[in-house]
Amino acid sequence: MCGIVGYIGSRDAAPILLNGLKKLEYRGYDSAGVAILDNGNIKVVKCKGRLEKLEEKVNCDAPVGNIGIGHTRWATHGEPNDLNSHPHISSSGKIAVVHNGIIENYLELKEFLAAEGYEFVSDTDTEVVAHLIDYHYHGDIVQAVITSINEIEGSYALGVLCRDYPDKFVAARKDSPLIVGLGNGENFIASDIPAILEYTRDVYILEDKEIVLLSDKEVKVFNNHGLAVQKKVFKVNWDVASAEKAGYEHFMMKEMCEEPKVVRDTVNPRIKDGNIVLDNIRITAEDLKNIRKIFIVACGTAYHAGVVGKYIIEKLARIPVEVDVASEFRYRDPLISDKDLVIIISQSGETIDTLFALRESKKKGARVLSIVNVVGSSIARESDDVLYTWAGPEIAVASTKAYNTQLSALYLIALDFAYKLGRIDRDYYSKVIEELKAVPREIEKVLANRDIIQKFASQHYNAKSIFFIGRGLDYALSMEGSLKLKEISYIHSEAYAGGELKHGTIALIEEGTLVVCPVTQDSLVEKMISNIREVKARGAVVLAIAKESNKQVCKVADVVVTIPDVDSFIAPIVAVTPLQLFAYYMALQKGCDVDKPRNLAKSVTVE
Ligand code: F6R
Repeated sequence: MCGIVGYIGSRDAAPILLNGLKKLEYRGYDSAGVAILDNGNIKVVKCKGRLEKLEEKVNCDAPVGNIGIGHTRWATHGEPNDLNSHPHISSSGKIAVVHNGIIENYLELKEFLAAEGYEFVSDTDTEVVAHLIDYHYHGDIVQAVITSINEIEGSYALGVLCRDYPDKFVAARKDSPLIVGLGNGENFIASDIPAILEYTRDVYILEDKEIVLLSDKEVKVFNNHGLAVQKKVFKVNWDVASAEKAGYEHFMMKEMCEEPKVVRDTVNPRIKDGNIVLDNIRITAEDLKNIRKIFIVACGTAYHAGVVGKYIIEKLARIPVEVDVASEFRYRDPLISDKDLVIIISQSGETIDTLFALRESKKKGARVLSIVNVVGSSIARESDDVLYTWAGPEIAVASTKAYNTQLSALYLIALDFAYKLGRIDRDYYSKVIEELKAVPREIEKVLANRDIIQKFASQHYNAKSIFFIGRGLDYALSMEGSLKLKEISYIHSEAYAGGELKHGTIALIEEGTLVVCPVTQDSLVEKMISNIREVKARGAVVLAIAKESNKQVCKVADVVVTIPDVDSFIAPIVAVTPLQLFAYYMALQKGCDVDKPRNLAKSVTVE
């Protein structure tokens, strides 16, 4: 949530900041701004709205200078308007700040600073930081930032410009991501790697409560006691093109088309001589025997991957699994101990609720294995074991390819645990491995067949409410299909277990109500057919997702989108793609901004 960027070097700062913000817009896009040190004064240009508006403003009256900070906002405190946009500047005009996160004790600090004569012009928590640093500034900006962050409670990634420092600026972080880009005669800060990838592949990944002083030739890192910290350079091994649209109309379509590749990248390197080898995961058969319970904890789409994870781990490894949304888990005093394994799932590796659930689990002694997409992210660094999903950068706000890779990782884990525990035999183990390896080809077929979904969407995009019903793994899949549709098309939708519908919700089905039914579980086909008949009898229009060989469904559903005849057990990795495509085409038909849906941001780094 919110993207921040900073530059110092010999080039004009404004275009570099704007370019970086473009790459970070997925993190928030209700307002944007830059602050540049222009002839000894901090000049701020900011406004409500998308980045194009800021660009127009900057082009009319460009601040000139080669040191600056920028911000693209997802509002938390104060509505999106010009005044609440970042950067915020202290009353003296000496300090400018961009911030991602939430200052929890801002009201207390505001009261104190107001009594000291500071005037507040915005409703944000961030403005407090600008005044607080100003208050503590007595000629040493690093010390002022250190004293300030030691008084701040909450989360932050900060970029700080000081009028008295024409050749340096400062940054700091806690619980919100921030990296430093190391250039040649120039240096950068950013919330995420794509913002600086055009200029350098060498980065420092900052830890909590680290403070950085950047000049064009040097980057010094300190801890919050002011002591120097030695950092390791992290080399980014993916290129700019993977974070660009590459000719696709939307990132979301590009990312769905990448699903075959990223599933292959996630699965194949972990199969060695017919065995699953999970990188550096050090969980032995002995450890597994001692595990009392597995908790899977995540948010949103990653949580839905976890629901599939529960089914498959319980089915194969026969270890009880609880799955929970991170924001609930962390506050419910969960009954976990050192006998439990917690599996954390996160694309960004920075989701604050998930990160805090991880910390809560570790505090209670549990071992934490995380499934993460972003290398070096907070969740990856704080986990005992990490299994990376190799989905590459996911830019569209709605998660697609990351989900397929999260499922792939969960299948690998379920199979590995089950085999180590002796709960499945060699033949079954080898058979499922072969099926997993074939998944990319099956997704390619689904993608090639997408016209039928586009056509259906063009006829039904005016639907007011859509139900997704499924049983077993198809129920887990329905949850994800429903979320995808809601978030990008703004159509109300609910996911129900097929058998549960008649316990209340079927009352909402009337003439013309759209019902989407994944029917990929062979043992549950008959039951689902009954459910389809029940809703059809009440006037529903049914779109089914079924295997090619399933001829029964064609007789009851209005339209059937087929997937290849994959084993029911691994069907979710293939069958989710038609649901993602359905959401995409519905949103497109409605004229929605597919990649940047309203009210959302990609990386939820605030509670
Ligand atoms: C939905 C979506 C969100 C994320 C959720 C968790 O399309 O993207 O629901 O899945 O915010 O994010 P990560 O996986 O980054 O922890």
